[in-house]
Amino acid sequence: QVSQALKSIARNEHIKSYIQQSNELYPLLLQAAQRFVTGENRQDGIVTAKELLSRGYFISLEYIGENTTDLEECRKVKDEFLNLIEEMGSLSMKQTVSLDLSHIGLSVDSETAYIHLLEVVKKAQLYGITLMIGMEESSKTNDILDIYKKTIEQYPNVGITIQAHLFRSNNDIKELIHYPGKIRLVKGAYQESSDIAMSRSNELNNHYLKLVKQLIDANHPVSIATHDEVLIQEMVHRQYLNHPNVEMEMLYGIRPDLIRDLKSKGYNCKIYLPYGKEWYLYLCHRIAEYPENLYSVLTDMINP
Ligand code: FDA
Repeated sequence: QVSQALKSIARNEHIKSYIQQSNELYPLLLQAAQRFVTGENRQDGIVTAKELLSRGYFISLEYIGENTTDLEECRKVKDEFLNLIEEMGSLSMKQTVSLDLSHIGLSVDSETAYIHLLEVVKKAQLYGITLMIGMEESSKTNDILDIYKKTIEQYPNVGITIQAHLFRSNNDIKELIHYPGKIRLVKGAYQESSDIAMSRSNELNNHYLKLVKQLIDANHPVSIATHDEVLIQEMVHRQYLNHPNVEMEMLYGIRPDLIRDLKSKGYNCKIYLPYGKEWYLYLCHRIAEYPENLYSVLTDMINP
């Protein structure tokens, strides 16, 4: 319930515009958000990326946002992704760019998202960059998978995120392993009905392990995207992380100690780096999924 309330606050346009117009609150919240977001501009993401690459991590950059309903705005977002890719290319950063299809057009219509995605993937291919598509609410899963499949048939440098909490993911993975794209496995960030998804539980962790095994047995490239230490230790114990096709991926600012430790043991480790003006929604999501973060956010605001 706390988490649902926080997500509603995050989407409330009145609160959002109040914060954006407040000369006192805005900088304080931005300061707090910087625990999880590299900054508001592309350069902030690039600077952090360079620093992490020099320390031996892989990186995935995302211009944050979702559910863009205005076509002109979708075009601008798509252009920002193209600029990001060009900049990464000019720095020979052959890394990953992540995006949500509803950020570049899915909330207008599928065709817009598909056309914009093709443009972005094509440019990414020029520079040896991989594009990772995020997974959104279950009402969008079929559309996102359809667009992914149509795209990967033309461009191999695209991957897809799958949510272990959905019961359907087992069958989705059975189908997706026939496509070459990397699969990023997450638990799932969206509240879903118990008819179609499981909540955080041992059952979910066992499902997660089963899906990882399915991918490893198929020698399929996989990004294990979780911060769950117990789950990770189990995968270390089962030697899942030893496979060259497997990488660990965590969100910037969450369990940096854990990913540092995994890297020091020689595993492939990637950090997801968000940037952009929509940091407020992203910050609320991080608090919603782990309400203890509220204390650190308040502390960061009081002691900037
Ligand atoms: P879980 O939620 O069980 O948390 C396990 C532990 O991790 C917690 O006890 C805590 O220690 C730590 N932790 C987790 N979240 C934290 C937080 N916000 N702050 C501090 N500590 C935290 N989801 C989705 O639906 N679609 C997507 O496309 C993506 N993309 C994505 C990319 C990457 C790289 C990652 C790492 C995650 C996503 N997610 C996502 C989010 C994912 O579904 C999930 O909500 C979060 O990763 C949190 O779940 P955990 O697997 O970490 O486990």
